[in-house]
Amino acid sequence: MIIVSIIGPTMNDALGQMKASRRYADMLELRLDMIADPNISTLLSSAKMPCIATCRPEWEGGSFKGSEAQRIEILEAASLIGVEYVDIELNAGDVVQEFVRRRKETRVIVSLHVIEGALFSIDKAYKALTSVGADVVKLAYEAEDAGENILAFEFLEKAKQQRLKAVAIAMGEAGEASRLLYKKFGGWATYAAAETGSIAALGQISGSVLKKLYRADSLKPQTRVFGVIGNPLKQSKGTHLHNPLFQKAKMDAVYCKFPVADLDAFMNGVGTRLDGFSVTIPHKQNIMKYLDEIDPVAKTIGAVNTVVRRKNKLYGTNTDAPGALDAIEAVQPVKGKRVLVVGAGGAARAIAYEAKQRGAHVLIVNRTDKKAQVLAKEFGLEYVSLKQLERTEIDIIANATSVGMVPDVNESPLPKALLKGKVVFDAVYNPPLTKLLQDAKSVGAKTISGTEMYLNQAAMQSVLYTGKKADKKFMKRILMAV
Ligand code: ATR
Repeated sequence: MIIVSIIGPTMNDALGQMKASRRYADMLELRLDMIADPNISTLLSSAKMPCIATCRPEWEGGSFKGSEAQRIEILEAASLIGVEYVDIELNAGDVVQEFVRRRKETRVIVSLHVIEGALFSIDKAYKALTSVGADVVKLAYEAEDAGENILAFEFLEKAKQQRLKAVAIAMGEAGEASRLLYKKFGGWATYAAAETGSIAALGQISGSVLKKLYRADSLKPQTRVFGVIGNPLKQSKGTHLHNPLFQKAKMDAVYCKFPVADLDAFMNGVGTRLDGFSVTIPHKQNIMKYLDEIDPVAKTIGAVNTVVRRKNKLYGTNTDAPGALDAIEAVQPVKGKRVLVVGAGGAARAIAYEAKQRGAHVLIVNRTDKKAQVLAKEFGLEYVSLKQLERTEIDIIANATSVGMVPDVNESPLPKALLKGKVVFDAVYNPPLTKLLQDAKSVGAKTISGTEMYLNQAAMQSVLYTGKKADKKFMKRILMAV
């Protein structure tokens, strides 16, 4: 069930939000603390679906400024007018018991909001919330890291065992998975933002996105869970690609964002529940110690960007390397060509290794010479210094540094004069047309955008996740739209 929070701030806004959200909501939560001078009967008669009356006090993170007596009066009024549910805070005291005891038609949701890093134990919270005999128990807490979603999952699993209706939400961007996966873990409902207006709580997603992109209301206990782990993840487009690809492959699976800082905590908790995941900066190296098996190429490169669970073992591989070379070779086969890789970090290792495997003569240049020398020696490549470049014969240039990436879009790792007559590839895909590629175009060089590499590596990931061929045209259309 998707519950959309109606938050005003005016009655007109609230009515607009109700109308815009109707298609995506199974129930509405009327935030009587956020709507100015709420007319409860107007709201209820316009809702056309069951409603929850919530009047969250400031002491529990809400906006209601009046007295406790006034607040209870508002909830009682809503109940008298016939609202289906009232939400009352566990910490409101004896009045909770009274609502539970006196309820007739109106059911009671008892809620607990753990604010700002307050330590709490799931067992204690669960015990307290279930002790009052409410119809639904609701726990919300602030999550700083995606690993903390595990508390919500465990809370819901406990409630499911006892056949209790429960909601558990990790608030904030890091807690997005708790809003998406509630059904997988047996939750009663999730809360969503209205289609218009702002959000009622940090991390809230709109009902339409929950339904259309994530199919949140049709997930099941057996639904397979995938996602991307990295930090930061704001730029990630993986959810927009992999969720539609699952639907296309008729696979019961969902793909979420997991912004992870503490990899250890994540892998020991939420990670154990995942069927596969993409790995991005800064975890491509560190993830390796949590895996049961690593593809030999990924091992040599020293980076994993894709993990799948097979027979309960985690298997890691690297689709960046073939993704980059497939992009380059779609324009220019590398066999027998002199390929200059710029950079000596993880991306450079992947591209240089794969290019050599495919028969290229690979040269390495880097801002820090020493690193280029070490890498050249390790992989048997030719080292060149920046100064020597002008006098070096090169056919293909591949930028594997982060130079030119947003926000530094006016920077390029190489002078324009070097680009003439070459094929130039940039692993940076944001922006799609980097300064390097613009310079290359201006001197008539052939160019290949990092978006091609991104697409290729995502398509290979999709094959690993779904077992089916990925439709790149379909993926390209999505990428152009998001
Ligand atoms: P990744 O895993 O994405 O490759 P990395 O391992 O941190 O990231 O490597 C970043 C690469 O970009 C390095 O080659 C780095 O050069 P140094 O070895 O000299 O640090 C290169 N790089 C980053 N910023 C740069 C800049 N402003 N100018 C030139 N090279 C830069």
